[in-house]
Order: sequence, then C-alpha cells, then structure tokens
Amino acid sequence: MVQDTKALRLNDLSFYGERTYYDFMVEQGMDSADAIMTSERGVIVDKNTDKKVHRLEGPSGEVFFLKCFGEKRLTCKLKRVFQQKLSSHGRIEVRNLRYLNSEGFETAELLFWAKTGGDMIDGGHSFVALKELEGYKELGHLSRDEWSRGWLGATSVFFSLLDKSIYWPDSHLKHFFITFDDSSVKVALIDLHGMRPGTRLTAGRLEKMVRRFFKLSSEADRDKAAGMLEESIRDRSLRKSVLKLIKGRTALPFSEKRSELV
Ligand SMILES: Nc1ncnc2c1ncn2[C@@H]1O[C@H](COP(=O)(O)OP(=O)(O)OP(=O)(O)O)[C@@H](O)[C@H]1O
Ligand SMILES: [Mg+2]
Repeated sequence: MVQDTKALRLNDLSFYGERTYYDFMVEQGMDSADAIMTSERGVIVDKNTDKKVHRLEGPSGEVFFLKCFGEKRLTCKLKRVFQQKLSSHGRIEVRNLRYLNSEGFETAELLFWAKTGGDMIDGGHSFVALKELEGYKELGHLSRDEWSRGWLGATSVFFSLLDKSIYWPDSHLKHFFITFDDSSVKVALIDLHGMRPGTRLTAGRLEKMVRRFFKLSSEADRDKAAGMLEESIRDRSLRKSVLKLIKGRTALPFSEKRSELV
C-alpha cells in the first residue's frame, strides 16, 4: 500500500506513489490536474460533471482504474466544508481504503494517488488509481450457481460494516466484488469516497444502507441474511433495527429482479 510520506511534484499536483507510475502519467500526457481531467486515455467507464473514471493499462500491462474528482462547483465546495472537513474526495477514498484494510476488509490495491493544493475550501482536483480486481465479479453478476455462496459472503461483510458503525451510502451490489477459491469466498469493496467510518448510524442512514444492499434480493436471500444477524452484529438494538428493515412489518419494497440480471 502506497504511503504518503514523500510526495513527488507533478506540475500542480502532489503525487503519492512509485516513480514508474509518475513516469507513466507523464508519458500519457496526464501530467497536471487539467490534463488528466480532459484526457480521454483508456476507456472512460463513468463520467459526470464532477467525476470520471478511466480504465487504463499500466506500465507493466496491469489494468487499473483512475478515479478523477473535480470539486470546483459551489455545491462541491460547500460539501467540502460542511461534510468532508476540507478533505478532497481522493484523500477520503485513500483514508478509507487504509482504514478498511487495517480492520481486515479486502479492497482493491492502491497504486498511487494525487491531488492539487492543500486541503482548503478551494479544493480542486484529486485522483486515485486502484488496481483492477482480477478474477473477481460484481455480486450482481454472479451466476446462479455462485450466487448462494457469494451472497452469504457479501452479507457477512455488509453486516460487519454495520457492526463497526461504518456509514457507507454506496452499499450497492455493484460495489461488492466476489471471488471464490476452494474453501472460501473473498469479498472486496470498491467506491469508498462516500464512506464515513465512526459515524453514528441513525435510523435514516441505516435504512439507506440496508435498502441499497438488499435492493435486488429475494425473500430467500433475506431469510438467509436474517439468520446471520445474531453472529454478525453484536449490538442488540442495532440487530433488531436491521431485522425489522429486512423482514418486519416495515419491510422495504424489495424487487425480485436480480435473477433477470444474471
Ligand atoms: N479496482 C477495481 N476493479 C474492478 N472494477 C473497478 C475497480 N474500480 C472501479 N471499477 C469499476 O468502475 C466503476 C466506477 O468506479 P467507482 O464506483 O469507484 O466510481 P464512482 O464514479 O464513484 O461510481 P458511482 O457512479 O457509483 O459513484 C465501478 O462500478 C466498477 O465497475
Ligand atoms: Mg460506483
């Protein structure tokens, strides 16, 4: 995992990572915040006003995803002041990756990251490069045969997040990546810039996370999850709230469409 001790200067960017990636970015013409923001290198897998994600082939042929955050609009600046304690999205994503790893969760591997300026209201841009999770599949893309084991593994990880009071509004199936070996299921998490560890899980936050994770689950999937609560969540009242959300009278309008996706 890349440490932040020595930043390299890349025009207006502080670059944290190995020299080979620094040189690679220069070769690609991605050598300043604006150059990266306007670059169309590789495949752009996601793009909106404030963010884009490239899929790129790195210096040794390894595939990685480069998340590019712009936080220049007024709404971004306000969010930065009032919700992010001035940290850029890139810095938060990196901090969350390290935190999750230290707590024993799997994530994609951080290759390098970069940001403009200091952590100030003006913000600017930040960039995070994550190695592709090779041999993994999104939870929602598992085959029928794989689903049952994958679902149990992912549910166990999802409950661990709740147990540790980690608020993650992006707890969608597409952010749980699954791989199998003979004896175990590995679950890696991606898209972590919205995650806030150590936040009180209010009823609203809990409902948001549960609703997203269980969105495409069947009744049988929810029964299995309910059966795992006891061993996964220590706090009794939290357990009760989760059970109520997934099974009780206030059950959410879950869709049965997951099988159509597979
Ligand atoms: N390390 C990785 N391995 C495999 N796929 C990845 C990886 N990182 C990102 N992706 C793919 O790129 C997509 C976008 O990445 P990510 O979800 O982190 O960015 P985002 O722009 O914040 O997404 P959102 O639009 O959900 O906010 C993911 O849904 C996933 O398909
Ligand atoms: Mg995403």
